[in-house]
Amino acid sequence: MSESSLKICCIGAGYVGGPTMAMIAKQCPDIEVNVVDINESRIAAWNSDSLPIYEPGLDEVVREARGRNLFFTTDVSEKIKTSDMIFISVNTPTKTFGIGSGRAANLEFVEKCAREIALHAEGHKIVIEKSTLPVRTAEAVKRILNSASNGSASFDVLSNPEFLAEGTAVTDLLNPDRVLIGGESQEAIEKLANVYGRWVRPDSIIRTNLWSSELSKLTANAFLAQRVSSINAISALCEATGADVDEVANAIGTDSRIGPKFLKSSVGFGGSCFQKDILNLVYLCEHFGLPEVAAYWEQVVLMNDYQKRRFSTSIVKTMFNTVSDKKIAIWGFAFKKDTNDTRESAAIYVCRDLLEERARLTIYDPKVGLDQIKQELIYLMSAEFGTLSEKHRKLIDDNVEVANSAEAAASGAHAIAVLTEWDEFKEVDFDAVYRSMKKPAFLFDGRNLMDREKLSKIGFEVYATGKS
Ligand SMILES: NC(=O)c1ccc[n+]([C@@H]2O[C@H](COP(=O)([O-])OP(=O)(O)OC[C@H]3O[C@@H](n4cnc5c(N)ncnc54)[C@H](O)[C@@H]3O)[C@@H](O)[C@H]2O)c1
Repeated sequence: MSESSLKICCIGAGYVGGPTMAMIAKQCPDIEVNVVDINESRIAAWNSDSLPIYEPGLDEVVREARGRNLFFTTDVSEKIKTSDMIFISVNTPTKTFGIGSGRAANLEFVEKCAREIALHAEGHKIVIEKSTLPVRTAEAVKRILNSASNGSASFDVLSNPEFLAEGTAVTDLLNPDRVLIGGESQEAIEKLANVYGRWVRPDSIIRTNLWSSELSKLTANAFLAQRVSSINAISALCEATGADVDEVANAIGTDSRIGPKFLKSSVGFGGSCFQKDILNLVYLCEHFGLPEVAAYWEQVVLMNDYQKRRFSTSIVKTMFNTVSDKKIAIWGFAFKKDTNDTRESAAIYVCRDLLEERARLTIYDPKVGLDQIKQELIYLMSAEFGTLSEKHRKLIDDNVEVANSAEAAASGAHAIAVLTEWDEFKEVDFDAVYRSMKKPAFLFDGRNLMDREKLSKIGFEVYATGKS
């Protein structure tokens, strides 16, 4: 395959497949990039003016390349047949059944992709794992490709995990800290490196063996989440002692061995990756007979559960031990700012706890609507009890509503809980908000976003994570 006639197919048009392929298409106008998915409505949205995911700057990137050399389609088999490189970028959620339930990655979708590729491929294909996968998955992918093949194809398998962060995906893809490519065939590695080499500095493209690449992605997420859990653990001690978690974070972050990033204390990390990838790492450690290593990493997730629960418990305790029939304004539902992704958002857990206490919730998030919020709550509440009980359905139906602004959500409320760090929350007219609320007017800042002094002067009772 000559580079100029290269055709790429990416299976999975999600938060990773969509933006990464849009960036490749933007940077390499001579490469045809086809993003395929079995989800028809998602593909239709990628072909519309209203993209299925919100990412700052993504609209422009897609608009530039779509229809030129970037295409979104449900025709999976045809694009497998005609492409030289096939990325697998499908979801790899935590298993909810059978062996490894609650820990291991569900590789059903990856295996289906491998079988689909084997069935339709002709000629030589480079198959690239973009999804985050347990170490040694490439072994299984290779075996499936070779044993299920129709006989007219050969394969090289590479691991090329994605390190973008939602909310900053476009800048991360434009200027990645590194691109990681693991594989056995030097020729295949160089072909993929040449694609990224169009815009990524050569010394930022790291080549490793397959297993190092697969394990590096899980390890990177485990280390990042560990920093959040570490500072969150210290936030509890700050509240008990009079120390201030932001001051501690600043003081330790200036040590060049520690560094300042990922030291922001909060209500807890969320998102589709951290928890599932650490649990996957825990499962792998157990599988390879390393229980102490497994227990070490599991503690990162347990600390995060504790932090979410600690936040909702503190709301109830502070509000005179009852939130029953009290209106609470929830500011933010996405797992972080600048995304519409709500998977594993700390907000879901806090809202669940408050609903259990019979609070009435009015939620405002600039990018998340009522259906998505209810879906997440139903999913969480059903996951814990098998199916959604009548009691829980009623709790959600009767006590969850959305507002169309932060101010509207707070009007008539007993308390505000800030659960996502959207910038617009800092610009609210707090004097007016205070006047519209029941007194005492509580504000629980789960993101340490607000100016506590200013709000206290207005009259709010402000509680922030890691501040006594
Ligand atoms: N979201 C992130 O920030 C992020 C970052 C780095 C890595 N990852 C990893 O990337 C992978 C994808 O994550 P995501 O957030 O994009 O997931 P996602 O759920 O947003 O998208 C996955 C897509 O794959 C499609 N799909 C599933 N099976 C298919 C099949 N057989 N054929 C065609 N399409 C199929 C689904 O319909 C869905 O649209 C995961 O392994 C994740 O861990 C995610």
